[in-house]
Amino acid sequence: MKYVDRPELGEHATFVPNKKLPVYNWFYYKEGFSRDIVFHLIERFQIGKGNTVLDPFAGSGTTLLACKEKGIDSIGFDASELAVFASNVKIGNYDLENLREEAKFIFTRKFFRLDTSNAPSIAKRAFSKFALEDIQFFRGNIAEIENKNFFLLGLVNAAMKVSYVWKDGGVIKFKKHPAPPLRHLYRRIIKNMIKSLEKKMPETSIDTKNISSRAFVGDARMLKLENESIDAIITSPPYLNNIDYTKVYAIEEWIAGLEDRPAIRSWIGHTKSDITADGRPMTSVGTAYFEDIKKALEEMFRVLKKGGKAAIIVGNAYVNGEIINSDEVLAKQAEKIGFTTKEIDVVNKRFALEERTKKKGILRESMIILEKN
Ligand SMILES: C[S@@+](CC[C@H](N)C(=O)[O-])C[C@H]1O[C@@H](n2cnc3c(N)ncnc32)[C@H](O)[C@@H]1O
Repeated sequence: MKYVDRPELGEHATFVPNKKLPVYNWFYYKEGFSRDIVFHLIERFQIGKGNTVLDPFAGSGTTLLACKEKGIDSIGFDASELAVFASNVKIGNYDLENLREEAKFIFTRKFFRLDTSNAPSIAKRAFSKFALEDIQFFRGNIAEIENKNFFLLGLVNAAMKVSYVWKDGGVIKFKKHPAPPLRHLYRRIIKNMIKSLEKKMPETSIDTKNISSRAFVGDARMLKLENESIDAIITSPPYLNNIDYTKVYAIEEWIAGLEDRPAIRSWIGHTKSDITADGRPMTSVGTAYFEDIKKALEEMFRVLKKGGKAAIIVGNAYVNGEIINSDEVLAKQAEKIGFTTKEIDVVNKRFALEERTKKKGILRESMIILEKN
């Protein structure tokens, strides 16, 4: 396997640069990567107009939005209904005049208090009584307009900023603190969201309205796509040892009205079979995880056209005293399926830590470049 150090891409394998980018920052997705890694790959793979890019683990839609900005068709799937909701709001086409009218309706309507006693207990812990009343009030207003999801995503964003929630790995924790009134913050956020559309996206000299981009709730292990229908794949699966996404986003889901369970219940990651009795992951090198990854790779191979390229960003893991080189395992799995591994770009390196301080080796975060010959 050919490993190439590319530390210049390291930051872009994280969501951090997206936080400053209009539209990309409409929804904070800790697990996401950034626009520029997609731009880099579009150029490197020479993807252009008329091609279709797939992201089978689309998350908050970074691949789809970046492709849209470049005038390239794309399609994404994600098991999380919230992620798909956020992606589709971000890649949507809007009539600005209509949005302004709806904003006026939402923010000039006289405030009235709604009963918050039937809010789920997690929401009651997450918000002050006033914030909860505002959420209920605005959700009622949003129910009466056309661009519901646009305004709901803004509400999710604003509400999380005034919430008592902080996320510690895979766990939601609560800490009360003084917070500004949600109403004002929400108005400002919506104003900025509309403004970022007015300015159009920075890269956009292209008419993006006719570009096909869409995210669907779906399972990367069973893609609803024809054989050999995709030109390139840009994606990042969940990392081994990663968090249970469903739990951490429960509050956002409630605000967006997605409290129903997602259609797909199996998540790539640990399953019961590789968790020990005391709840820790087993050293069985994440058997269930790699079985799932294999299925996802087989699907990628099936839907990719001959000559098509795939970039898969993945991080290695430290599990029960053992370093697991997911990048290497994944590349080997891909080769068995029929892919050629062109290169493994190492974009980040960090220490594997035990008890938070003891260094046990190096963990890579890599971008695996594959080709279907
Ligand atoms: C590392 S994140 C991808 C983030 C994305 N690149 C972005 O910029 O937002 C992995 C995603 O895989 C999704 N996922 C987990 N299991 C899945 C499955 N079986 N099929 C499709 N998506 C799945 C998770 O919900 C999560 O959004």
